[in-house]
Amino acid sequence: MSNGRSFYITTPIYYPSDLPHIGHGYTSVAVDTLARWHRQAGDDTWMLTGTDEHGQKMLRAAAANGVTPQEWVDKLVEESWFPLLKTLDVANDDFIRTTQPRHEERVQQFVQALFDRGYIYAGEYEALYCVGCEEFKPEAEIVDGTGAFEGLKVCAIHSKPLELLQEKNYFFKLSEFGDRLLELYRSVPDFVRPESARNEVISFVKSGLKDLSISRSAFDWGIRVPWDDSHVIYVWVDALLNYATAVGYGTDPEQFARRWPAYHVVGKDILRFHAVIWPAMLMAAGLDVPRGVFAHGWLLVGGEKMSKSKLTGIAPTEITDVFGSDAYRFYFLSAIAFGQDGSFSWEDLSARYQAELANGFGNLASRTTAMIERYFEGVVPPAAAGDERDSAIRDTVASAAAEADAAMERFRPDEAIAAIWTIVDAANGYITENEPWALAKDETQRERLGTVLYTAAEALRALAVLLSPIMPVATEKLWIALGAAESLGRLQDQPLRDAGAWGVLRPGTSVNGLAPLFPRIEQA
Ligand code: ME8
Ligand code: MG
Repeated sequence: MSNGRSFYITTPIYYPSDLPHIGHGYTSVAVDTLARWHRQAGDDTWMLTGTDEHGQKMLRAAAANGVTPQEWVDKLVEESWFPLLKTLDVANDDFIRTTQPRHEERVQQFVQALFDRGYIYAGEYEALYCVGCEEFKPEAEIVDGTGAFEGLKVCAIHSKPLELLQEKNYFFKLSEFGDRLLELYRSVPDFVRPESARNEVISFVKSGLKDLSISRSAFDWGIRVPWDDSHVIYVWVDALLNYATAVGYGTDPEQFARRWPAYHVVGKDILRFHAVIWPAMLMAAGLDVPRGVFAHGWLLVGGEKMSKSKLTGIAPTEITDVFGSDAYRFYFLSAIAFGQDGSFSWEDLSARYQAELANGFGNLASRTTAMIERYFEGVVPPAAAGDERDSAIRDTVASAAAEADAAMERFRPDEAIAAIWTIVDAANGYITENEPWALAKDETQRERLGTVLYTAAEALRALAVLLSPIMPVATEKLWIALGAAESLGRLQDQPLRDAGAWGVLRPGTSVNGLAPLFPRIEQA
């Protein structure tokens, strides 16, 4: 069912120095939802995620735990980062680890190519480094420390002291790429989204780019510089290359041509690496730049960026154990405008679960299927020629489906969900207004009753399809309850861009009992 359109989308590869928290889960479910949407729409989709395993941060985490860095990353990836994908129902196509040979060898090949093309030279360097960011910090992101760090210079993101590093390094001639980057942002206006991120990147590049230190010699947990084995490749250069090595750069030209270039979804903390350094590296190597970079905002807890290093991290399982993975996915993707910061709170999560999932979508599903069981022995009735109340539902479904697809195309799952939710609200309103329980008491209204329940069931059919990329578990249950699996085939095979068509669910289909999709949560 592929239409030949390639859609390759990535998450950042996370540092497995520590456990995943809901910020990592946020990016992963957003990317998974976009990937599921495109996959189900017939685009030739590939979703990549993975872990970024080299560098000083990893070396220190391992040392603090008394094991080698390889032992540390193996343990964390196996015990925490792979399970995160299951916890959140992420259907990634691949998972890359930067310690895999398929990556390490190709990174050396890429860096050698830049060296051979004259973009790398040896130099001296002295600057303030943040191990949390794995980055030499620009002036604008260095602030004065407070409390225990009074009198020290600290990182604006991590609030931890910076370290003055003085080394002989190899440098990438990033400074030569300013004009070409500005031309890229001009000619491909949505290369960086949202607008605020684009503006930030443009002004950063306009203020002048410095060459980038791309090797370290003070430690050896990394990929060796091919022409000088006293140096390892800077962890960010190593990490960014995952997006290319995972789809066959240097080994499988056919796969590389099929997948590359990618869309990258990242948190705004790592926007510059993706929107400035990475395209410049690709330009230097003579490869295509990414299709685009979307930077989402931060989850805030108590007004600050949630982070493990500040001990504000919440484990995704704390949420999924209580509310389930669908609610996790729905909550973060609908409650936060994608691209802006959002504050997480348990109160907000519980309130939305109750109002939108349990009382909204869940109730629509259970009362519609229950009434078909009660009044039509569980068989979907046919619809007679209806009136404008019925056609209003049809129109809502058609426009919601079109708007949702357009929103997903713009990387706005929040707006897509808002569009889809107009169906939930309209269908619930329709049932209230048409009172099928009253129609059922009047034998002369039998045909009208059938029309009303068919209309509600067909709205549910559209909802199951449109919401399946967002809530794969609940929609699968609904699909089976509607009897649609029998008559229409698997939910994930329903063409998404046709979800707004009317009359797809067949009268005569057997509806099965439906346990509540979003059960009441017992307050602890
Ligand atoms: O930066 N709110 O890895 P990382 C929203 N290895 N998203 C958040 C978040 C928060 N509070 N905290 C983390 C790295 N994230 C590098 C990336 S890519 C070539 C290398 C998410 O483990 C968000 O996507 O620090 C952010 O960009 C990413 O996790 C950083 O993960
Ligand atoms: Mg980080």
